[in-house]
Amino acid sequence: MKKIHKICCIGAGYVGGPTMAVIASQCPEIDVTVVDINQSRIDAWNQQDLDKLPVYEPGLKEIVEKTRGTNLFFSTEVDAAIDAAEMIFISVNTPTKTYGKGKGQAADLKYIELCARNIAKVAKTDKIVVEKSTLPVRTAEAVKSILDNTGNGVNFEILSNPEFLAEGTAIDDLLKADRVLIGGDDTPSGLEAKATLSWVYEHWLEKDRILQTNVWSSELSKLVANAFLAQRVSSINSISALCEKTDANVAEVSRAIGKDSRIGPKFLSSSVGFGGSCFQKDILNLVYIAKSFGLPEVADYWEQVIIMNDYQKRRFAENIIATLYNTVSGKKIAFYGWAFKKDTNDTRESAAIYVADALLDEQAEIVVYDPKVSAEVIYNDLDYLNTRSPEENRRLLKVVSNPMEAAKDAHAIAILTEWEEFKTYDWKKIHEHMLKPAFLFDGRRILDKQEMDAFGFKFYKIGEA
Ligand code: UDX
Ligand code: UDX
Repeated sequence: MKKIHKICCIGAGYVGGPTMAVIASQCPEIDVTVVDINQSRIDAWNQQDLDKLPVYEPGLKEIVEKTRGTNLFFSTEVDAAIDAAEMIFISVNTPTKTYGKGKGQAADLKYIELCARNIAKVAKTDKIVVEKSTLPVRTAEAVKSILDNTGNGVNFEILSNPEFLAEGTAIDDLLKADRVLIGGDDTPSGLEAKATLSWVYEHWLEKDRILQTNVWSSELSKLVANAFLAQRVSSINSISALCEKTDANVAEVSRAIGKDSRIGPKFLSSSVGFGGSCFQKDILNLVYIAKSFGLPEVADYWEQVIIMNDYQKRRFAENIIATLYNTVSGKKIAFYGWAFKKDTNDTRESAAIYVADALLDEQAEIVVYDPKVSAEVIYNDLDYLNTRSPEENRRLLKVVSNPMEAAKDAHAIAILTEWEEFKTYDWKKIHEHMLKPAFLFDGRRILDKQEMDAFGFKFYKIGEA
């Protein structure tokens, strides 16, 4: 097995940044360079003020502080970093296609292809190329073909090494990974490449947590893991609707079924719907792949997980409208939280975006408070939907930096993200600031019904009658 001293990672995003910071901190003899075509992102990673890193993750800034400038580097010199590295991680984004064949479902692989072509052009020595981005099955084959046909005659080994970190717990997930998956060819050079990547992870993980598979199993496992997790959330969310019609309580149902060790307690919290960059995209990918292999029943089965998630977001918005006497026009509704979950500043596919869009359609006036998300990001999210003009979005929706200001004279508050700080607020005082009757919609089930009733709120909690 060959040991290496230089790693390069293309893509300084939510995955590339934290993953490389952890590798650098655990492997002091390896120099890790993270490159990105986005100059401002790289500048943000190189900021003196560690509170302004482009990615917020608990524990990240401490690791960056320790390693940056020592064996962790951020740069826009993509070609130089590729040339110098023995192992190259590809961690660029693979958004859902917005055009052409597979529009709305298939992954757009143009950035992956650009990376592969660039590596082929620049590389003058043998490289191990590691796919870190989540990809449809058989992408490695395409990457290999591009590298072999356009390269300078050097040898490329392609590995699939899907990421299982969840945002908000990325550092812990990396340091204490349940498992690491390494897919690659079973040829002698393929086996050696797998062993080399395994050696990197063995710096801090026990060997029995590092699973070696063929490339296709590895690529597919990532999609399936996310599909199974999302399916649990959609399953419990479907039951939340039923609980609201009966006298059942979704938390009690979750607890009861989660105690069955075959089912287990995790990913059974009912919510306003799952978000994030992966769940929806990966399921759509799975659906698209199943369809393209002529398996419509398989495609429909998984698509239902997304249909249920869309229903849950729509149901939450419609309930707000119906409860506020069937009109929210001109009414001030405060949003607590915009991020897709707590402890992250990421808002991709956040339920808040879709709930806001539905309420804005009804001419509601929304005021958003989120402890980590900036106004710029919030407006970008809304503008991206193209439902109304950017001016209209800015006229109807305001962003504030204080939860009390958001609550002032509001008809209703909707909780969209489960930030811990929301639980500690003085809800009695918040109630005093609002118009009466003061409505409170808990889309994350973080507040106590009895307590909120006692303060005088008209309180609704997902999954309870
Ligand atoms: C990405 C993928 O979206 C996801 O499928 C995969 O699981 C992990 O990698 P993430 O890190 O969250 O996730 O994406 P993002 O934060 O958008 O970062 C990607 C970075 O790649 C961006 O900073 C972008 O500027 C950069 N990039 C993109 C390049 O450097 N070169 C390119 O050609 C394209
Ligand atoms: C997910 C996977 O967990 C991770 O392994 C993979 O690498 C990337 O995708 P992430 O999207 O960062 O990670 O967050 P995750 O914690 O999985 O949450 C996804 C969404 O589901 C969030 O919106 C969250 O609020 C929601 N969720 C999660 C629920 O609504 N209920 C639950 O019980 C759990």
